[in-house]
Amino acid sequence: MTTKFKDQTVFKLIAAEEKRQREGLELIPSENYVSAEVLAAMGSVFTNKYSEGYPGMRYYGGQINTDAIESLAIERAKKLFKADHVNVQSHSGAQANEAVYHAWLEPGDTIMGMELSHGGHLTHGRPGTISAKLFNFVRYGIKDIESGEIDYEAMREIAIKTKPKIILAGFSSYPRELDYAKFQSIGDEVGAVLMADMAHIAGPIAAGLLKNPFDYGFRVMTTTTHKTLRGPRGAMILSKGNLGNPLKAVDKIVDNLPTLIDRSVFPGLQGGPHMHIIAAKSVALYEAAQPDFKQYCINMLANAKKLSVELMNRGFKLVTNGTDNHLILADIQTSFNFDGDMAEKILDRIGLTVNKNVVPDDPLPPFKPSGIRLGTPAITTRGLGEEHMVIIADWIYRALKSPHDELALDKIAAEVRKLASSFPLPNDN
Ligand SMILES: Cc1ncc(COP(=O)(O)O)c(C=O)c1O
Repeated sequence: MTTKFKDQTVFKLIAAEEKRQREGLELIPSENYVSAEVLAAMGSVFTNKYSEGYPGMRYYGGQINTDAIESLAIERAKKLFKADHVNVQSHSGAQANEAVYHAWLEPGDTIMGMELSHGGHLTHGRPGTISAKLFNFVRYGIKDIESGEIDYEAMREIAIKTKPKIILAGFSSYPRELDYAKFQSIGDEVGAVLMADMAHIAGPIAAGLLKNPFDYGFRVMTTTTHKTLRGPRGAMILSKGNLGNPLKAVDKIVDNLPTLIDRSVFPGLQGGPHMHIIAAKSVALYEAAQPDFKQYCINMLANAKKLSVELMNRGFKLVTNGTDNHLILADIQTSFNFDGDMAEKILDRIGLTVNKNVVPDDPLPPFKPSGIRLGTPAITTRGLGEEHMVIIADWIYRALKSPHDELALDKIAAEVRKLASSFPLPNDN
């Protein structure tokens, strides 16, 4: 595959990355393997086209196909998630969140989001981000690390005191479901717009396996398209309300959120949309509406549960003692007396890719945190089932129990390579 290209340096690296992905097992819960069709759409001639504006309202000519592909993505996403409108141009989850904040808020306004070490994402107001410089973030968090239940009473009291204009439900390292009805009652009480960042769980929501925040009075949902949704790297913003002409200013009222958000994405934050990525989003949304995607999500959640049980059987301390979704947060410091960074490196050495992660109220710093985060979206796409979760838990346990035994690590690495190589990547087929 590499020999026909002139830039050998780059194409050798692409081949090397493909080999790494084929011979290892991807356990980072925010990653996945896209289908050959998603990959083809991403590598298509749509990358050549400028399309500033929205379908039917562009600043450039030659939009017959771009208009059709963007409208298709919008309609597919609306149907899948029960939205009134979807902006499919957002380049990334971070920008999608920022676009919503700017659509609805003025500098200095308050946003209530999940405590970052309890699972909230950096874009939910980590100090140092542009959003944190412009807006005032207040927090809700979990009651305790054992149940992982959100302290809704404390959340309500803080909301009454601080009057957030947005209450944000969403996370990147929280293994349980949120009680959206409780968010709704607090949001109604303080007059906040409810926004969900479902970047991690969009796949199971689309499949009807996890709750859809739109069923609980939420007005806005953001999501990345590359995690459990199994599409290209990018994002979407889904909203309830009426869509007007996004090229004209509208009043800041909740029914105008679709228009306010479109205007915030373009020309607010971005220039030309990435039409090749929008084409690939369309393909991923088509795939997510098929019955086999639902089965994929059922398997992904079952695999995560099985992996969590098998890890706990081997003595791992898991935050909230299990999972209801696709991700698991293991406290390595408590389980093995070394940090998550060291665990990540040991597991990399044997071909299992995970990421270090803080645990709630972590006493250790983010670059050497107590935990690792792992999940099953990618390995389930690969075709691994519950029986393989037993094997993976065992590999993780053996490697972390003897982190300096090079011979033992070599042996596990060979076992990982052998099993992984027998499960092709989707683009191999
Ligand atoms: C909950 C959540 N929101 C937003 C993002 C940001 O997405 P991106 O990396 O595409 O900017 C992530 C990424 O991990 C996430 O987990």
